[in-house]
Amino acid sequence: MAIERTFSIIKPDAVKKNVIGGVTQKLEAGGLRVVASRMVRLTEAQAKAFYAVHKERPFYKDLVAFMTEGPVVVQVLEGENAILKNREIMGATNPEKADAGTIRKEFGTNIERNAVHGSDAPETAAAEIAFFFSGAELATLER
Ligand code: CMP
Repeated sequence: MAIERTFSIIKPDAVKKNVIGGVTQKLEAGGLRVVASRMVRLTEAQAKAFYAVHKERPFYKDLVAFMTEGPVVVQVLEGENAILKNREIMGATNPEKADAGTIRKEFGTNIERNAVHGSDAPETAAAEIAFFFSGAELATLER
């Protein structure tokens, strides 16, 4: 199986709950490795651009407000089948519907304040990684 990279955000609700370690522990226990990580406070323009695909959705404005309310941790995760694996470890978008033991079940609050974001496909993973991390930066972090 191919080694892939995916992109993850530990969202403001999870950072506020002091569970950066708890979230990361689940990612690592699931076989993923953090290969890049940075805490950032998103600007409104950054959050709008990152979630532009949702701009016609009724929840877009609230989502942008939520994602800018406090710092987040942006990460690049690596592992076998990392994109799908990360989605399994995160659980369903709505924490109420997420399986037991998943990040969103354990640390999410509701469909908006759902603790983490993860890329949904190889194309979005590449675009989302490039949105936050330069190739030069990633090269310096090679192990
Ligand atoms: P995420 O995986 O970051 O991708 C888009 C985000 O929009 C999603 O997680 C949720 O935080 C939010 N979202 C998705 N659907 C809804 C919804 N129906 N109501 C409010 N927020 C939503």
